[in-house]
Amino acid sequence: MKVLVTGGLGYIGSHTVVELQLAGYDVVIIDNLSNSSTKVLDGITKITGTTPDFQELDLRHQDRVREFFKHHQNIDGIVHFAASKAVGESVEKPLFYYENNVNTLVYVLQELQKLKQQNFIFSSSCTVYGEADMLPVNEDSAVKPAQSPYGNTKQIGEEILKDTCKINPDLKTVALRYFNPIGAHASSNIGELPLGVPQNLVPYITQTAIGLREQLSVFGEDYPTEDGTCIRDYIHVVDVAKAHVVALERLIKKEQGSNFEVFNIGTGKGSSVLEVITSFERVSGQKLNYKIVDRRKGDVVAAFADTSKANSILRWKAEYTLDDAMSDAWKWEQRLRTK
Ligand code: NAD
Ligand code: UD1
Repeated sequence: MKVLVTGGLGYIGSHTVVELQLAGYDVVIIDNLSNSSTKVLDGITKITGTTPDFQELDLRHQDRVREFFKHHQNIDGIVHFAASKAVGESVEKPLFYYENNVNTLVYVLQELQKLKQQNFIFSSSCTVYGEADMLPVNEDSAVKPAQSPYGNTKQIGEEILKDTCKINPDLKTVALRYFNPIGAHASSNIGELPLGVPQNLVPYITQTAIGLREQLSVFGEDYPTEDGTCIRDYIHVVDVAKAHVVALERLIKKEQGSNFEVFNIGTGKGSSVLEVITSFERVSGQKLNYKIVDRRKGDVVAAFADTSKANSILRWKAEYTLDDAMSDAWKWEQRLRTK
């Protein structure tokens, strides 16, 4: 069985390619290298012993997308990661985000609908829930007005799938709403490659510990939480990757109820920023240099998943702990800097 993974050299994509290969799928990757490098192919090959087919292609070029599919009619499923994901940047460059995250999705779906097998998995985000009314948040919770063009592209993406599924019963889609993916492959052959100064907590922690950053700023300690810092559902990236394999299998085996389904992909456990720091200190044996600063604009107080739908329907459950993920993130950071 052949699976196309768009954005397959990126952070979540590369870990998913590994899990797909280990599950026996032939993988073809499309990536334009805008936020990744071909070195990731070596990392994947080291883990699985197989180098996936790689096509350097920018999905914004509709004619090239069309051309690609002309020569790849035998695809059994698509896992679509390719997108830009920096929230702050999306506020500065909204049109770029709509082009890169929405147009590309439309182009891929247009070609997918010409294929015999129309199985599609979309990378959505817990950001669609905003500040949820109830925690843990389940898939029936309201989608809140997006706080950024990036967040909006995820909501629009889900709407596009829903509308297209209504008129095309052959199209089978799943949107996975990831909570906060962190960590790296336990082999340290692949992991996150943040460009410039990281905006996300975990790469900022590991870069501070390795000496690339002076100090971590903890954004706010006056939130209505136990220790005053924000709460998130941090999930090991390998657990996230495995969710794609089981979701794809459900589509291929035609086990889906509705042809548009949504699942939360989290651990179900919320951790505060200070708990993440403590976990890092525990697994690394290092004290982290951090200070408390003002709140960051746009942060929700708390978000963690009700994962019962994915647990029962996909028969998937996160297996790794926060400590596992922090340990793998730290090993990866050390490996990256000694290469
Ligand atoms: P990433 O930036 O590491 O990976 C995205 C990959 O897509 C990169 O390799 C990039 O080069 C490629 N790409 C971007 N635009 C492209 C284009 N026009 N044509 C071809 N390739 C293109 O990001 P990630 O963290 O692996 O995220 C993957 C997906 O998951 C994204 O859709 C993102 O929005 C979503 N998501 C990520 C998180 C997270 O915390 N990382 C959370 C929720 C949702
Ligand atoms: C952010 C995005 C989300 C996106 C996700 C992955 C926002 C509002 N949300 O999630 O849409 O899907 O990244 O790219 O931007 N923190 C610090 N110091 C730091 C960095 C973060 O204290 O230097 C805190 C934040 O305040 C937050 C927590 O750590 O409470 C997690 O932050 P982050 O890793 O950026 O993820 P989110 O904000 O949850």
